[in-house]
Amino acid sequence: MKQPHIGLIGLGTMGANLARNIAHKGYSIAVYNRTTSVTESFLKNHGNSSITGPRTLEEFVESLKPPRIILLMVKAGKAVDIVIDQLRPLIEKGDSIIDCGNSYFKDTKRRYNELENYEIHFAGCGVSGGEEGALNGPSLMLGSNDNSWQQLKDVLQAIAAKDFNGKPCVTHVGPESAGHYVKMVHNGIEYGIMQLMAEGYDMLRTLYTLSSKDIAHIYKQYNDTELSSYLFDISEAVLLRKDDQSDTYIVDMILDEAAQKGTGAWTAHESLATGEATPTIAEAVFARYLTGNKEKRKMLAKHYASLKKQPKTISDDVVNTLRDALYSSILLTYIQGFSLIHNASQEYAWNIDLPEIARIWQGGCIIRADMLSLLHSALREEKQLLATPSVQKALLPRIRGLRHIITQGVGAGIPLPAFSSTLAYIDTLTSSQLPANYIQGLRDRFGAHTYKRIDKKGVFHTDWLTS
Ligand SMILES: NC(=O)c1ccc[n+]([C@@H]2O[C@H](COP(=O)([O-])OP(=O)(O)OC[C@H]3O[C@@H](n4cnc5c(N)ncnc54)[C@H](OP(=O)(O)O)[C@@H]3O)[C@@H](O)[C@H]2O)c1
Repeated sequence: MKQPHIGLIGLGTMGANLARNIAHKGYSIAVYNRTTSVTESFLKNHGNSSITGPRTLEEFVESLKPPRIILLMVKAGKAVDIVIDQLRPLIEKGDSIIDCGNSYFKDTKRRYNELENYEIHFAGCGVSGGEEGALNGPSLMLGSNDNSWQQLKDVLQAIAAKDFNGKPCVTHVGPESAGHYVKMVHNGIEYGIMQLMAEGYDMLRTLYTLSSKDIAHIYKQYNDTELSSYLFDISEAVLLRKDDQSDTYIVDMILDEAAQKGTGAWTAHESLATGEATPTIAEAVFARYLTGNKEKRKMLAKHYASLKKQPKTISDDVVNTLRDALYSSILLTYIQGFSLIHNASQEYAWNIDLPEIARIWQGGCIIRADMLSLLHSALREEKQLLATPSVQKALLPRIRGLRHIITQGVGAGIPLPAFSSTLAYIDTLTSSQLPANYIQGLRDRFGAHTYKRIDKKGVFHTDWLTS
């Protein structure tokens, strides 16, 4: 076996599969895990002539040929700093550490700067696709200096998924934390899309009283249309799997409290901090918070039962209208995500190639969807996606469906925060007159905050207390 350049630390769900993927592509790799028994069981189950598993970190580093490429796939947060601190005295100038976990982009920037002082290349690589993607081909978003990109390009291209044209789903997003930023927004979009799909599911289950089986059938139909995507594809399995401990579907036995690991909240926070609105993503995060505490909801449901309306009968019309509502709101969620990335690219001078992001999300990742083809070509024309004829052509005939579904659902007391905020987003951005003049008047009246006028340049204040 050739002495490997590449090492991977962290043999959890993602790391183990990523290491196997790298070895399958013909690269020699050394792996290391804090808990040695995990390394032993990995080698027992998946070991082959391309993989070595040193037991100590020192042996692991020594086994790698300089310049070393060390991929980290450990729990995001403190663990990344701990591992870097352990590695730093063992590695040399010119070596690279690539953090492939879901690290917060500001942590990545800090680590990048710290390691630059030691002439160690640090990179943040967003990896999307879950355990299946890590093994068979993820979508990879690298933030690094040019040196690391040149060092990593071949292996990343070899292990990545393929886009709609067969090209690898990997790109050098930009310097420092640009890759982790884009991965964060990817996850924010994922939150938005899943909340929209869940609201569609709730409409069908609660207002139209359909079973999991019926909803699976409708979502499968959607997946055969322009809504085709990975998340619709896996919905069938999630909705149709029978529970082995009862005589119903497993989805009906799963507690309706949604968990999260923080990437959606980071995206919403970034949106609030920069003023680039992503209401669908923020609402999806709030919606997950609000699902918490089932017992409290059950208690309140008894007191407010009169807010809910009688169920209705499903029709083909409803199925088609809901498809339009889902398509338009999901497209608008991607648009919000791309606006956030565009804004960050300018703010941090990252020079991110937006069409390239739409391309690398076409394969491997959780938000891969047919509509990324439309977004890819629209972004090549114009960064303001709503201004492109192709996006307008896709949205205009479907917004009516979104409005109709919201009217039906909200009227019956079904919570539709993501659908509603998405409609408000497009209605706001397409209104030439908004009520912000009144807000400005109030602000100037109580706090002398000043306002601008529609007929003259400058900043004005009215002495509201004199008539
Ligand atoms: N799961 C997904 O679908 C997914 C998708 C994309 C990205 N990610 C990201 O990928 C990263 C890994 O996720 P995962 O799902 O593979 O996690 P996981 O299965 O929980 O594995 C975590 C790994 O981190 C190691 N670790 C934890 N604390 C450590 C420390 N202080 N020092 C050294 N090693 C430590 C663990 O080692 P021990 O065995 O010794 O505990 C284990 O190898 C995370 O950042 C996650 O957010 C996950």
